[in-house]
Amino acid sequence: MTGPKIILDCDPGHDDAVAILLAARHCEILAITTVSGNAPLHMTTANALLMCQIAGLDVPVHAGADRPLLVPAAHAPRAHGHSGLDGPPRPEVHRTVNGNDAVGCIIETIRTHDDVWLVPVGPLTNVALAMRQAPDIVERLAGISLMGGAIGPGNVTPTAEFNIWADPHAAQIVFASGAPLMRMAGLNLTHQLCVGPDVIASLRASGGTVPEFVAGLFDFYLAGYRERADLDAAPLHDPCAVLAVTLPALFEFGARHVEVETAGELTRGMTVADERPGTDADPNCEIAYRIDAGAAMELIVDAVCSYD
Ligand code: RIB
Ligand code: CA
Repeated sequence: MTGPKIILDCDPGHDDAVAILLAARHCEILAITTVSGNAPLHMTTANALLMCQIAGLDVPVHAGADRPLLVPAAHAPRAHGHSGLDGPPRPEVHRTVNGNDAVGCIIETIRTHDDVWLVPVGPLTNVALAMRQAPDIVERLAGISLMGGAIGPGNVTPTAEFNIWADPHAAQIVFASGAPLMRMAGLNLTHQLCVGPDVIASLRASGGTVPEFVAGLFDFYLAGYRERADLDAAPLHDPCAVLAVTLPALFEFGARHVEVETAGELTRGMTVADERPGTDADPNCEIAYRIDAGAAMELIVDAVCSYD
């Protein structure tokens, strides 16, 4: 597929799985790299391979970090199940990884391609390690579009969102990297784009194998939100980071200076945005504040239904 050249760094994860399908229709995916996050690395990698297989995507998949830089590894089985992709029956996966050095793949891909977007939608461990090992790659990037953080309440703690909380030291390296353009889709944004029974029904109505598989994923994902938060809607976090690259006109952004709390007892993993009027802090990030959720969901459903 033509479109912006991206490296999708992910921890599938139900919403990561949809981000893969969406990105394959709107971008040129140079590589998918996997990281420990929603589930242990071997599961997030197996899930990325599963999604590539069922969608018929011939995209290199490279496994990366199996633990954060400093804090202990943590996962999200309540949201995604122990497999990271609980719900529908899993087909046998024949796809194998193209390598186990995601960091090397990220570095090599950026050094050999111009105008690459890094799209991290899991903990930022791989990205931080690549930046630390090869600082030259930062200025070569077209940009970084990440799902992570929040302006407002977190989801893992009152102040922190999972991707940033899971590896706050990596996140601080990325936010402080000086990347030419950074877009942040935090929880304040992603909770505007929610899956409900109507979307699930429209996927099933299409009759395709892949839409049916995704409908099964959403059944599980939505049930978790109904149980935990008494909500009949489940936020589609990770596709937002893809759309912020491919269709920025769907969003309203605000340029802010953002840093990550790495040591706070109550605030570990908090993305601290300087929103003071007249602040002299130089912005390092375009925070997404609004999304045209109707248009975005239509694009996501169309992309998923485009697979048979
Ligand atoms: O907090 C939401 C984020 O954490 C999403 O990327 C989801 O997949 C999990 O990784
Ligand atoms: Ca994710």
